[in-house]
Amino acid sequence: MLTRLNLTHAKETEFDIPRHHETKQPPGLAPRSNINIDKSMKKAFDNPAPEIQAVSRRQFIKSSSLAAATAVSFPAILSAQAKKPINAVVIGVGGRGGGAGINFLDAVKETQVDGRIVAVADVFPEQAQRGNNAFGVPGEKCFSGFDAYMKALEIPGVNYVIIATPPGFRPAFFKAAVDAGKHVFMEKPAAVDGPGCRINYAAYEESKKKNLKVAAGTQRRHQAGYIETIKRIKDGAIGDISFLRAYWVNGGPIWHRGDRGDSDIERQIRNWYHYIWLSGDHICEQHVHNLDVCNWIMEGHPTKCWGMGARQALGDKSGEIWDNFGVEFEYANGVRMYSYCGQIKRAWASVSEAVHGTKGTSNPGGTIEPKDGQRWRFRERATDPYVQEHIDLINAIQNDTELNEAKNVTDSTLTAIMGREAAYSGSGIEWDAILNSEFKYAPDLVYSDPSKLKWGPFRTLTPPMPSMHDILKQPPIKPVA
Ligand SMILES: NC(=O)c1ccc[n+]([C@@H]2O[C@H](COP(=O)([O-])OP(=O)(O)OC[C@H]3O[C@@H](n4cnc5c(N)ncnc54)[C@H](O)[C@@H]3O)[C@@H](O)[C@H]2O)c1
Repeated sequence: MLTRLNLTHAKETEFDIPRHHETKQPPGLAPRSNINIDKSMKKAFDNPAPEIQAVSRRQFIKSSSLAAATAVSFPAILSAQAKKPINAVVIGVGGRGGGAGINFLDAVKETQVDGRIVAVADVFPEQAQRGNNAFGVPGEKCFSGFDAYMKALEIPGVNYVIIATPPGFRPAFFKAAVDAGKHVFMEKPAAVDGPGCRINYAAYEESKKKNLKVAAGTQRRHQAGYIETIKRIKDGAIGDISFLRAYWVNGGPIWHRGDRGDSDIERQIRNWYHYIWLSGDHICEQHVHNLDVCNWIMEGHPTKCWGMGARQALGDKSGEIWDNFGVEFEYANGVRMYSYCGQIKRAWASVSEAVHGTKGTSNPGGTIEPKDGQRWRFRERATDPYVQEHIDLINAIQNDTELNEAKNVTDSTLTAIMGREAAYSGSGIEWDAILNSEFKYAPDLVYSDPSKLKWGPFRTLTPPMPSMHDILKQPPIKPVA
């Protein structure tokens, strides 16, 4: 049974200072306010075995035994046979990779396609092994190592790639999947810097030429409440847009997994959130969701921004990132978007967006408040957006309809990167400058051929200090390649 969310209990608009209490949730797990909680992901991360083993057993029986086939109705079998089989691989079998695999299998059931997970890839063997526990993938198809993703892509018949690694690897993995001619589901954010985003834009163009379908983990674009509300905003329900606000102000601290490993690269990948080359920092890793909603409403990306922020609660913990950002973005038509994100315990928290127009206001997750007239609220029941994004991708593949979110998610990722660098440097930053920036946060091989990466040394940056860290003018120390 698919998870269905009753949106009638969605939180009221959050135009005033939100009154959420502390939310202690892992990164990527959107708080209650906007109902994007990936329960399966959280369970998979906290306790991989029981929850996803249950799915694995069901799935395994379904795909391997005639008895299971007879339990499915005859029309359903005929319908599945008429559709293209989907052979998926999961790259990055952590919390989200586990959750996304389950979401994919739910979508397979819903769309009645002949779909399965045929291989997984993870840099760490114990993580790769979860593909066997969770999805019944044979041990020899649970690949590990830096070249694991290539081995999974090379399996004959694979046509659907779920990329759920830390974002630093996303551009090269997305490019590899497109080069191999696969349809892609890629998690957000799509990169951590300008050079990575340029790889994505080029791969996006290539994916269009090859008619590949691409969905991104910015799941609000597949969430019924957002879709309906944003349609109404675009139809003029609140008049012309005056300004927008975006929040990922989480009430709890960022996870820190400590310093485990025999080399810099291993320690950093295990604790990836804390390294800019792997996560892009909090504004990119998490707040990209809310920036993406604003870009969706504005039908484009901002062209410049100013910002500030700090590393406060993280203190002396290992890592490079900040835990607080406040950025003012400006779109080409002069409309401004005020963005706030932080992961520190404080008295209020909110993960939401707000749109202010000449005729009213909206929480684009589900409400419209006209200055004159009746308040409208989205009240439908809807499919879990984490499942819906796979349903939409599968349907696009089956029906050859348009779906390619690679550019949108890269635009929103670069929006976050522009904001981050404005705050880090203390300077105003323009879109073209950050898009064309040359500074690479990651080792060179991560952009060119991450399958050749080795466990070894890599520098840790001093957490950026405004006026001392400006990748456009005085890049920090050169990375060890
Ligand atoms: N859309 C959402 O709401 C949502 C929710 C959670 C996470 N995410 C995203 O999913 C991604 C992963 O997050 P997570 O919480 O699952 O992290 P995680 O640490 O639980 O899992 C990441 C996995 O990737 C593996 N990995 C690292 N480098 C690799 C490489 N080079 N090759 C293969 N595997 C590699 C790690 O070993 C780990 O198993 C992040 O980009 C995050 O933003 C999105």
